[in-house]
Amino acid sequence: MIYIKNEQELDAMRQACKITAAARALAGEMVRPGITTKQIDKAVHDFIVKQGAKPSFLHYHGYPASVCISVNDTVIHGIPGGYTLKEGDIVSVDVGAYYKGFHGDCAATFPCGRISADAQRLIDVTRQSFFEGIKFAKQGHRVSDISHAVQAYVESNGYSVVRAFVGHGVGAQLHEAPEVPNFGTAGHGPRLLKGMTLAIEPMVNEGTYDVRVLKDGWTTVTSDGKLSAHYENTVLITDGEPEILTVIEGL
Ligand code: MF3
Ligand code: CO
Repeated sequence: MIYIKNEQELDAMRQACKITAAARALAGEMVRPGITTKQIDKAVHDFIVKQGAKPSFLHYHGYPASVCISVNDTVIHGIPGGYTLKEGDIVSVDVGAYYKGFHGDCAATFPCGRISADAQRLIDVTRQSFFEGIKFAKQGHRVSDISHAVQAYVESNGYSVVRAFVGHGVGAQLHEAPEVPNFGTAGHGPRLLKGMTLAIEPMVNEGTYDVRVLKDGWTTVTSDGKLSAHYENTVLITDGEPEILTVIEGL
């Protein structure tokens, strides 16, 4: 069942999502050669708690940190630890915050120092694929209209979309119905209605879309070792243009 949020609930969601977006921005600003991923996790954790919110991911199904930090060929769910970021890395940061009963969820890939032109193009195409997708995130369209638009844009740029993980509804629970795949033919899946809130999150690989999960049960890497990027926002469906909730003024 897909929850439709009323104005009062949306008001709380907007606040949760603002904190989440600010946490993503903080993590992005910290990405630089010489910092460990654990240092970023700690700063983001402390920031979220200081806002009176809770890190959505901490202890979620046993996840041990507040942020997922996925470097280079790591697609998603990288666990922060002792790894020291180095010049040329691409660093995907995924964060969630729970505030007044609702979750925000967003991600982005940041360059560490100077990166290759190829890596930058992967980041740019991944981000733009989200915006191609949300052209269809409106009442009257169906979920797979978003999926198809993301896939078409990514593949026309020579990359692949991850199949094994998908976007999702988000609200009182971090993961709610419906699933929002980043691939598929248009015209399928649930109809979009005003008041639905979706986490739309293309995960884009340089090479094959195939991924594997490491023995820690979380870290998900490309099976060919090539780069991967991620971009995600929590989006409100309206009867007009979609409202991106994980934004902060000026960013
Ligand atoms: N943002 C991720 C997602 O969309 C959540 C990470 S799962 C966690 O599904 F366990 F790491 F929290
Ligand atoms: Co998500």
